[in-house]
Amino acid sequence: MKETNMVFYLHDLFISKNATAVPVAKRSKEATVTDFGTLMVIDDAVTEGPKKTSAQVGRAQGIYVNSALDGSSMHLAFSIIFTNSTYNGSTLEIQGADRYLLNRREVSIVSGTGAFRLAKGYAVLETVYFSSSSNGVIKIIVTVYHY
Ligand SMILES: *[C@@H]1O[C@H](CO)[C@@H](O)[C@H](O)[C@H]1NC(C)=O
Ligand SMILES: *[C@@H]1O[C@H](CO)[C@@H](O)[C@H](O)[C@H]1NC(C)=O
Ligand SMILES: *[C@@H]1O[C@H](CO)[C@@H](O)[C@H](O)[C@H]1NC(C)=O
Repeated sequence: MKETNMVFYLHDLFISKNATAVPVAKRSKEATVTDFGTLMVIDDAVTEGPKKTSAQVGRAQGIYVNSALDGSSMHLAFSIIFTNSTYNGSTLEIQGADRYLLNRREVSIVSGTGAFRLAKGYAVLETVYFSSSSNGVIKIIVTVYHY
């Protein structure tokens, strides 16, 4: 078993011709990502720094759904698919309750593939920037045990 620590940034782009996070279900026409029941599909860029222009290390593909009646938490279920030279093709599977109103919160890393086969771990999430009507940037601090 080894421990690997990594830090990267996820860019959720809601409002753009090139949106990478799109709502596929919502309770009303006006509902946003912060309303209970909104289901998003993502194919977000994952970069090594907080700026969109910093080097890309992979993509985050999957879903999240606002699953708190008061809108305060998203259930995350997505894969980080690495594309940089160190981990090209390997994936991490992220799942958990993202109580995004907190500055720091934790979600689980439930498994992985490639370099991360049989992975178990956790990710600390920190919001760098968030606006329900435009974009979000999330810092992801990963601690993972794998073979
Ligand atoms: C969308 O992506 C294209 C190609 O990368 C780029 O030229 C364009 O400026 C982008 N548009 C917006 C609104 O971000
Ligand atoms: C990652 O792997 C793909 C095919 O498996 C290859 O086309 C690509 O060049 C690789 N990228 C890096 C950065 O090694
Ligand atoms: C690839 O990305 C991971 C995660 O951000 C990072 O730990 C690793 O150092 C990167 N490798 C290179 C060569 O940039």
